[in-house]
Amino acid sequence: MTAPFAWLRPWEAPEVTSWGRLPMCAVDRRHQAVCLDGEWRFQLLPSPEAAATDEWGSSYVPGAWTLQDTDDPPQYTNVQMPFPEFPPHVPAANPTGVYERAVDVPGEWAGRRIVLQVGAAESVLLVQVDGRPVGISKDSHLAAEFDLTDVVRAGARAVVRLTVVKWSDASHIEDQDQWWHGGITRSVLLYATDPLHLADVTVQARRSGELRVDCQVRGPLPEGWYVTGDLDGQLLAQDTEFDRANAEDERVSEFLGEARLLARVPDVRAWTAETPELYGLTVRLHRPDGTVADTSYHRVGFRDVEIVGRDLLINGERVFIRGVNRHDFHPLTGRTVSYDDMRADLVLLKRFGFNAIRTAHYPNDPALYDLADELGFYVVDEADIESHDHAHEIADDPRYLNAFVDRVSRMVLRDKNHPSVIIWSLGNESDYGANHDAAAGWVRRHDPTRPVQYEGAAKRGWADPEVASDIACPMYAPIEECVAHALSGKQTKPLIQCEYSHAMGNSNGTLADHWAAIEATPGLQGGFIWEFWDHGILQRVSDGRPAGRAGAGLYERGVAGPGHRWAYGGDFGEVPHDGAFIADGVVFPDRTPKPVLYEHREIAAPVRLECLRHEGPVIANHQHFRGLDWLTAEWQLSLADGRTLTAPAELPELRPGETAAVPLPFELPEGGGEAWLTLKVMTARDEPWAPRGTVVCLPQVRLRATPVQRTLPVADRTVEVDADGLLVHPLLIAAPTLSLWRAPTDNDELGGMADRWREWGLDAPVRKLVAVRRAGASVGVLAEYVCDAGVVRHEQVFTAVEGGIRVEESAQLPETLNDVARVGSVFETVAGLNLLEWFGPGPWESYPDRSAGAPVGHHALPVDELFTPYLRPQESGGRHGVRHFTLSAPDATGLAVELGRPSQISVTRYRAADLAAAAHHDELVPRAGCVVHIDAAHRGLGTASCGPDTSPAYLVPTGTHRWGWILRVL
Ligand code: GAL
Ligand code: MG
Repeated sequence: MTAPFAWLRPWEAPEVTSWGRLPMCAVDRRHQAVCLDGEWRFQLLPSPEAAATDEWGSSYVPGAWTLQDTDDPPQYTNVQMPFPEFPPHVPAANPTGVYERAVDVPGEWAGRRIVLQVGAAESVLLVQVDGRPVGISKDSHLAAEFDLTDVVRAGARAVVRLTVVKWSDASHIEDQDQWWHGGITRSVLLYATDPLHLADVTVQARRSGELRVDCQVRGPLPEGWYVTGDLDGQLLAQDTEFDRANAEDERVSEFLGEARLLARVPDVRAWTAETPELYGLTVRLHRPDGTVADTSYHRVGFRDVEIVGRDLLINGERVFIRGVNRHDFHPLTGRTVSYDDMRADLVLLKRFGFNAIRTAHYPNDPALYDLADELGFYVVDEADIESHDHAHEIADDPRYLNAFVDRVSRMVLRDKNHPSVIIWSLGNESDYGANHDAAAGWVRRHDPTRPVQYEGAAKRGWADPEVASDIACPMYAPIEECVAHALSGKQTKPLIQCEYSHAMGNSNGTLADHWAAIEATPGLQGGFIWEFWDHGILQRVSDGRPAGRAGAGLYERGVAGPGHRWAYGGDFGEVPHDGAFIADGVVFPDRTPKPVLYEHREIAAPVRLECLRHEGPVIANHQHFRGLDWLTAEWQLSLADGRTLTAPAELPELRPGETAAVPLPFELPEGGGEAWLTLKVMTARDEPWAPRGTVVCLPQVRLRATPVQRTLPVADRTVEVDADGLLVHPLLIAAPTLSLWRAPTDNDELGGMADRWREWGLDAPVRKLVAVRRAGASVGVLAEYVCDAGVVRHEQVFTAVEGGIRVEESAQLPETLNDVARVGSVFETVAGLNLLEWFGPGPWESYPDRSAGAPVGHHALPVDELFTPYLRPQESGGRHGVRHFTLSAPDATGLAVELGRPSQISVTRYRAADLAAAAHHDELVPRAGCVVHIDAAHRGLGTASCGPDTSPAYLVPTGTHRWGWILRVL
């Protein structure tokens, strides 16, 4: 019941950002609070104007009601708002959750100041205590605090009612690309302080070792009260000059109690993402008798952020930003995330070479920043502002001015002491207007120690001097454009893409090319991959409801368990929705890594094998701040003939940027064909994010290129083909035919390729046998594949050779089929061949434009583990550059294939058509045998679902393709 607020209708009043809400500060009260999390009485009203009834259910706090068995399910939209009303208006049907519970206020809080903190509520929070209105707040991703001192009594029971209105004027500036939820999504706390307390503490710690701590007590400091601080036990000095200046300025000393503490730490251990050195700061407010009235704890990292010319420098170094965009997300609880979950996210990112996070697109849970300080990440902290659907109307709308400044300033006030936060972001996709400049102005005055960024502030190009961005931070800019800008002579700001390499489905093609350009081009410093999570919600198939908290343990290795699936847009019957666009992360909804992460790990490798000199391989330290002493390594030599040799490796002492040639660790054996040298680099000791022995990277160089040429003697047999010219073979239930198509990836669909392929009829060409010719041990089969857009002539020559069949193929692609998915052979095996062993890049999935992270070697995986279960079924499971493979049963029978040259292959349980016909994995029925593809050419993956397609070099050209392979029976 919102009666006390009804006359105000704060849900349609953008000018009202809050009422009764305390200022934000960096004093963390979590450790001294009573936690009010748990089951609350709950009812969901159809609108904020509806009256609450006596019929209470319950709802778990923190949590979204949309995930707790209510009739208001989650809804996914990207750009479009879920309703047609223009800002600041919202639909009359406006789910409103009423949460209520009794709170016993501790008796020992008598005489103290009592504060209620609501961690986050979506999107308007109305607070009542014992029926009295206490406050209003907006901003779904920041805490709201209310002073209850005059409303509750220590030792007595109070009834707290939190009414949360789902749709509001604020929804129009919270139009981020994610699920819409309603609820209280972060913890609710109650705490007490002395009436005179530390209202804020601002820490500035420089790489020089200089420390400045500004402490605020709201209200004048009474005679005799004072503030002290210590850094790991070392007392800080009072800044007497500051005290004197304040004393002289009566207005200041009358109004505020302020104190400044100083220190200069000799030989300070500087904070960087590589060396997250933290010191412990305690600030105390003392009464005249010396007793402590209030304490505030902080972890301090000494570091500098500055922009010099077009470089962003951390402690004077131009660092590469290997970033990812991260939402607060969990497949069961939505935006409610636990400390352990956040830690697991960051640990995983660390293990895969990331050093930066953009908190897309709102201030994340406060614990995330503690973890980033501790584990070592550079953070772009982003304000909760995205008005994507109505960007143009809102950026200059004075009714929203307060909201912009309020959201940005509250974020800065909350997070300013985190060394991990290196840049403030004014939000996302909200056009550009005066409201942004107002917010930027506030930040620049309040925190001159960090740059500000906003992608939209580049209306006149990346060199635009607009006040709202110190960084050129475009999204999805093609590599060539970034390089051209850096070489243009016109670059004025560091170029760090706020989003790039869209990870939707089977994606992130050309990531390595991107990084080759970044590392080679001064002015380019990296970017943030879009994005960390696939936001699939675990859904019960039986009734279509979210599994919610009860779904724990019902998924594994990226796959939803029996009777469940990963829901994406539309799966809850929502209208409108934006489908699978919500599944665009580098991890599955259960945090299982996607293959792209291995690619990223190698691209980010701190140790590289640069090249081969006469003396041996050259090792390089590619870090910015530390040596290699935290790492250990081992050499591996992989020979095409099946041998893998290992030898201990000693990493040289190298400062960042240095290289050293080391002796070749092996005598290269005669024979054995192609040879690859790998340096397996691991953590030398336990790191906070990885136990000792965790693989950090696998740099590799090729020592010998010559593949062994096998020319098998022709056998005295014939090869059998049937009346259709199809190979007859005891292990194949479908003979090799020509394949030009793949189950469209999300990039293929959204980039328009899939439609074109369907128009061309690539998915189902009609095969017509033209001729069968026999000559000795060979049979030649000529066929035509008739597509709607042209005819492909396909020739196969099967020759019986000793121990098997040699297959030589060619396909002639007409000019009309100038961008097909693949050219190659596809066949199906009998059941029971369940193990793939191969020599080539691996073991994880790789494609022509995403294979830099897969070292060449001997790999083996069960067929069922080769397939990657991207949320919407699509082409997956490919292995690039395979030289030879076997597919075998447990008794070692099966087949072996030797490829004429390194080829893209895939071995799965699904035909391309099976995958293309399914919207979710629970619809797929695995085949008993294997579907095997051998491709002479396979189109790159690119990132066209949002951003550039693959480079022309990875397209399948027209003209004649030739390929050959030998099929043997084991
Ligand atoms: C960007 C946007 C992100 C997300 C992404 C596509 O334009 O900032 O929020 O929508 O595209 O997945
Ligand atoms: Mg958007």
